[in-house]
Amino acid sequence: MKARIAGIGAYAPERVVTNDQLSEIVDTSDEWIRSRTGISERRISTGETTRDLAAEAARRALKAAGVDARELDIIILGTSSPDNNYPSDACSVQAMIGAENAVAFDISAACAGFIFAMNIVHGFFQAGIYKTALIIGAETLSKVTDWTDRGTCVLFGDGAGAAVLKAEETGVVDMLMGSDGTKGPILSCTSRTLGNFLTGTKPELGLMTMDGQEVFRFAVKKVPESIEILLERNHISREEIKYYVLHQANERIVEAAARRLKEPMEKFPMTISKYGNTSSASIPLLLNDMAEKDMLQPGDKIILSGFGAGMTWGAVLMEW
Ligand code: UT7
Repeated sequence: MKARIAGIGAYAPERVVTNDQLSEIVDTSDEWIRSRTGISERRISTGETTRDLAAEAARRALKAAGVDARELDIIILGTSSPDNNYPSDACSVQAMIGAENAVAFDISAACAGFIFAMNIVHGFFQAGIYKTALIIGAETLSKVTDWTDRGTCVLFGDGAGAAVLKAEETGVVDMLMGSDGTKGPILSCTSRTLGNFLTGTKPELGLMTMDGQEVFRFAVKKVPESIEILLERNHISREEIKYYVLHQANERIVEAAARRLKEPMEKFPMTISKYGNTSSASIPLLLNDMAEKDMLQPGDKIILSGFGAGMTWGAVLMEW
């Protein structure tokens, strides 16, 4: 059996922060941010936690799928900004939505978290172990953002997206995942520095650091490469793909991928302008936007592709 999306849901904090507002706290401008990234505004939490956003996205996905939370066998939540070291946000969400029969755990694959979660569930379904799953990408990146660093703080936003997956005859056709730990330092966030009675130092909370150009170079290579592998090994032509649903990190990365794949931009829907980069939440937020606009019909072939810290990357070829 294959993992098929039975319902999708998303949620982002209400508070909108514009580029002009950011130009009041760091040396930047609306013009620079729009032209270099495609971002106009982002949502920033004024109190809601990662698990709050995740639980609301989950409730919406369950409603869209017509599935009761007690039917869920498994919940996997991808995040790079968890509320706690433990309990996991997935366990918190399990309690918040009343999914008492589901095993729940978080995964750390940064912006590729939603794709990794989907692929793990697909594996369980293929092995016949579970039948109904909830996958979530949820982030409050605003709490790990260095608000004095204009090179990163203009890029990210908070939000969550979720999908209910059911084991069916159609759904995920093929998928791939990869990691390259040697590139870890180009995008990182220490959770807490070392400190104990022996070192004599106090642990401190870490903030995100990034070598933007290196991440950019990595993405424009890996994203089209992963998509090409999926197309070639499944003997699927580009014409058969209705949409490429890419991680929303930078409009220029999406444009570069489209150019390399020789596909028109109309096949690359985007939400980066209104949400910024929401890491693991960006793909389900985009899918939710597409579902709301009725852009997806049963049988449509789409490819999802994400990349992120680790470095990690993943792609899924699926039928809607
Ligand atoms: O989910 C994955 C996470 N991350 C990514 O995907 C990020 C990938 N990388 C990128 O999107 C781009 O590299 C950035 C948007 C981060 C930066 O764009 P860029 O075109 O690579 O700019 P740059 O780093 O080469 O910087 C160009 C100039 C520099 O000034 P100088 O040295 O030319 O005087 C920067 O200091 O732009 C400056 N700059 C800014 N200026 C105004 C950097 N950030 C800003 C800013 N506002 N916010």
